[in-house]
Amino acid sequence: MPLLKRPIGVFDSGLGGLTVLKALHQLLPEESTVYLGDLARLPYGNKSAEVVCRYAHEAANFLLGHSIKLLVLACNTASAVALEGLQKRLSIPVVGVIVAGAMEAEKSTRNGRIAVLGTLGTIRSAVYQQALLALNPALRIVAQACPLFVPLVEEGWLQGEVPTQVARHYLQPALEAEADTVMLGCTHYPLLAPTLAAVLGPQVRLVDAAMATAQHVAQLLRTHALLAQTPQPASHACFVTDELERFAQQAERFLGHPPEGLSLCKL
Ligand code: DGL
Repeated sequence: MPLLKRPIGVFDSGLGGLTVLKALHQLLPEESTVYLGDLARLPYGNKSAEVVCRYAHEAANFLLGHSIKLLVLACNTASAVALEGLQKRLSIPVVGVIVAGAMEAEKSTRNGRIAVLGTLGTIRSAVYQQALLALNPALRIVAQACPLFVPLVEEGWLQGEVPTQVARHYLQPALEAEADTVMLGCTHYPLLAPTLAAVLGPQVRLVDAAMATAQHVAQLLRTHALLAQTPQPASHACFVTDELERFAQQAERFLGHPPEGLSLCKL
């Protein structure tokens, strides 16, 4: 396949990476994509860095088998622990979501107080805290792991009493710290945004990395002269390692159309 026509590979443990896929489709409609959701092994967020790295390398190998020209780790947990290793090993550009997210959060804050929400793995790795402080050492950061958010999103349980109670619990440190910006440091969390915003109130901005990551991808494709230049119809494929039916239902609710070319795969 000619290099420019090759798809962009997008990888997440489940449904959350669709937030990044959607932004890529909006910003780069002429680009083809292959999405991989590793639902068989979700959640990644509670697993050790070593295990998540192994999973990420296996996912990358699968996507390389689909001739991708660029890989997006649309998962903060995988970005936190596997980005550097993959960038060293692969000959194609590999993009994570953390630096793009941190830049958005730093741009957004007015009072210099940012709350970072993420999985246990992401918060434990402290990569967001480091990326934010590298941008502005004067920032005050509170970090909160929110392990119950991912199962709520995967269940499609986005609003109502239970998600609101869970959100109240996890957002308490952000409210106490008077953070004016909350970084959604997990690609699943934007799906809970209305519930989180209702708990935080209108003075707090929610920031996610999806569009900033898509912009970073566009810039990299340009720099590497990899943009699909011809007005060709883009083609999209979507693979999951388990739970095809549930993924199809949730993905349709989220994308507004059924995921294209959906099939089961083994890594
Ligand atoms: N979507 C993943 C992230 O951004 C986390 C989901 C999981 O725990 O597998 O960290």
